[in-house]
Parts: sequence; structure tokens; C-alpha cells
Amino acid sequence: MSADPANNGPPPGARADWTIDQGWDRYSEAEHQVWITLYERQAALLPGRAADPFLRGLDALDLHRAGIPDFARINEELKRLTGWTVVAVPGLVPDEVFFDHLANRRFPAGQFIRKPEELDYLQEPDIFHDVFGHVPMLTDPTFADYMAAYGKGGQRALGFGHLHNLARLYWYTVEFGLMESADGLRIYGAGIVSSRAESVFALDDPSPNRLGFDLERVMRTPYRIDDFQQVYFVIPALQTLLDVTVGTDFAPLYARLEGAKDIPIAAIEPTDRVFTRGSQAYANAGGRTQAA
Ligand code: PHE
Ligand code: FE
Repeated sequence: MSADPANNGPPPGARADWTIDQGWDRYSEAEHQVWITLYERQAALLPGRAADPFLRGLDALDLHRAGIPDFARINEELKRLTGWTVVAVPGLVPDEVFFDHLANRRFPAGQFIRKPEELDYLQEPDIFHDVFGHVPMLTDPTFADYMAAYGKGGQRALGFGHLHNLARLYWYTVEFGLMESADGLRIYGAGIVSSRAESVFALDDPSPNRLGFDLERVMRTPYRIDDFQQVYFVIPALQTLLDVTVGTDFAPLYARLEGAKDIPIAAIEPTDRVFTRGSQAYANAGGRTQAA
């Protein structure tokens, strides 16, 4: 995701487009070990939970090896598959910088890795979230096209003053999306697949609503950045997501949204396709603040 645009220039040491060298040779043994620990936990959990395009991408990129992946190595394969590359950035970048990278098939990834004592929760996306979570899906040609189109759509949304609506689309697809498969629901959102606890919660917990994806509905639904989601949206397939978003001119949609109210986060509308009517027990009990 992206940072507050109020902060205009790149930080010292970063290029004009906010990229930096990954500095792969400078990771410590302890940092590589954090990657390996996280990788092994998720790799054991995700078969049967993550969507096929994600699992295929994970295999294709061979992200395990001996630790934190070298972007130069990943990029050879990724570029060949879908024309995408991963570029290193110091942290969150301004919206227009983020969209310009996406529109040009560059995925900005945090260079740093979380500390061993924060394996399960962190404030800012690190290299594990960005690379393990996001990059496997970028090996899928349909998803790759969607992300590039989203970058262009982001530039447009900024012009219309409707980034808050478009950001919800990103959140409920790229970060927290579910999709149907012949064997039931699967996760593909990077925020889920990179989190041990949410990989289970998103599919198995009776608390959240799981509703059919609808573009305008999603754009009217706020989201939580600090805890498990209260609602997940399910796409039938990546191709549907691409067709609906690329095939719709968002300008009239944004105009319509000016007069529309947000839908409360846990609400179910009469027009929703309901996969799960959630109990909201987790959120009602106070969520993360309530956990030990
Ligand atoms: N069709 C969108 C628009 O008119 C652009 C877009 C495509 C946005 C794909 C998100 C994803 O602005
Ligand atoms: Fe992310």
C-alpha cells in the first residue's frame, strides 16, 4: 500500500522514484532465519487454503532457498512470466509513486524484515509480506494485468478525488481477497497468505461475513487496518475480477458514490450473495485488544 502524500520527497539515499538497492549481501544470518521461519510456517499451512495461482507462483519463484530472496534472481523469472519486476523501497511510498510503479509493472517491496519478536503482527509491510504475500500472484498473467490496470486506475482515481473508494477495491481483493474453487473457498489476498492467524481465520472462523464480490458494493465498504477483517469478498475467478474492473469506466461510478452512504462494515445487504453470515463474535468481543 502507500503512504501519506503530504510527505513529498524521497528519503535520503533513495532515488527520485523512491527505489533503493535491496542490498541483499547485507542481510544478517538472523534476518535470513526470520524469513525461513515465516516461510516454513506458511508453506505448511497454505496447501488446501491458498488459491492455485498463488501456490503455483510460490513454486515457480522458488522463494525458499536459504533465506530472504534476492530480487535480481526473482526478477529473471517474474519478468519472463508476466513482465513484472520487484523493486526495493525503504517503506511506504506516496500514492502517485506507488501507482506509477504498478502501472509500469514494478512492484515496490519493503527491503527490511520484521524482528524475531514480531513474527505475527507488524504495523508496516516488510519484505515477507510484500514478497511472499504479493509476488507469487504476480506470476499469474490475469492477476498481473489486473495489478497494472489498478496502477493506471489509481492515477485516475487521484484525479477524481476518489482514491478512498478505489483503495477499498485494493484492500478487498489484492490484500484480503477470497476466491471460489471447485473444492471450496481459497485465499489469494497478500494480507491473508502472509499471516499465519488470518490464513485460518479468513476461511474457518464463524465470525466474519463472506460475501460475493460486487464492485460498487466493495467501494462502499470501509475496512479495518488493525485487526482481522469483519467481511471478506469472494470472486468467482481472477478473470472475472479483471473483466469487471477493466470493463467498467469508474468515472460514473465515482460520481454515483458521491451521493451514496458507506455500508457499515458488518452489514449484509439484501442484494449480497452470502457465502457465510458471520456471527461477528470475534469483533464484538473486542478483537485483538481483547486477546491475551
Ligand atoms: N476501469 C478503471 C477506471 O475506469 C481502472 C481500473 C482497472 C481500476 C482495474 C482498477 C482495476 O478507472
Ligand atoms: Fe500488501
